[in-house]
Amino acid sequence: MQQFLSVSDPEDPGSLVKKALALKKDPFGNQIGKNKTLGLVFFNPSLRTRMSSQKAAMNLGMNVMVMNIDKDGWRIETQDGAVMDGDNQEHIKDAARVMSQYVDILGVRTFPALKNREEDYSESVINQFVKHSEVPIVSLESATRHPLQSLADLITIEELGIKKPKVVLSWAPHPRILPQAVPNSFLEWIKTTDAEVTLACPEGYELDDQFIDGVNISHDQDKAFEGADIIYGKNWSSYHHYGQRLDVKEDWTITNKKMALTNNGKFMHCLPIRRNVVATDEVIDNSIVYQQAKNREFSAQVVLQEILEGMQ
Ligand code: CP
Repeated sequence: MQQFLSVSDPEDPGSLVKKALALKKDPFGNQIGKNKTLGLVFFNPSLRTRMSSQKAAMNLGMNVMVMNIDKDGWRIETQDGAVMDGDNQEHIKDAARVMSQYVDILGVRTFPALKNREEDYSESVINQFVKHSEVPIVSLESATRHPLQSLADLITIEELGIKKPKVVLSWAPHPRILPQAVPNSFLEWIKTTDAEVTLACPEGYELDDQFIDGVNISHDQDKAFEGADIIYGKNWSSYHHYGQRLDVKEDWTITNKKMALTNNGKFMHCLPIRRNVVATDEVIDNSIVYQQAKNREFSAQVVLQEILEGMQ
């Protein structure tokens, strides 16, 4: 594998899940990363991605360098050809190329601004890293996708051992405007499995066609939950009314009463989660979110291992 930006990068997502589960049983068995360095560049905050990626790299024998570029770096200019006589001090093409002199793999987290859909969906920041870096790029969540999370989600679902699981990705409330990266990405990864997938969301919260193609859509949360094996809760802002919060009359918070409609369904969420807004304490405390978070370590580890193997 040359890079990891989306489900299109691994040759076979299913075999990546199986390899990750083997690594979970024997995390230190392959020291392919000895004398190699992973760089992690964060334009935005993170707990799980930061710690799980570091842990994964250390499991493989790698060294790790972390740069909080939003706080510790020069202000980055992203426009090609910009006359840099304003506040921005370093061009992304120089920053990306220089960072790639010090590391063997570079992970980048860059959230969307949620102001201009075309700009966000062009993935210009992470694509400029791909263009200018001299080493492979791993997405630590980009404007439209979060593939390390989605791979961890598939690993977690595989561990449940349910044949053809009925999976519902349910929109849930949130006080802030959030990106579509997690739900977009979850859909493109879960569609590679045998799961029956439903997107449950209020009208106006449907995602981009490229992600919902082949997915059942329901605007009735209770109906969608009936008989489900897995409820994946998540908030996102509107794609069609880009970056907006729309008026929603019904209460979409995921409660025990709603979970009771499922087939003894498991609740999943990528975290962080707003307790008693997205889902109630009872739902979260009886969920598999910590198993999911643990699997972030092995999704990162298998991706790093595959990229390192490709360099040999
Ligand atoms: N799920 C996830 O990516 O968590 P962080 O934003 O804390 O890294």
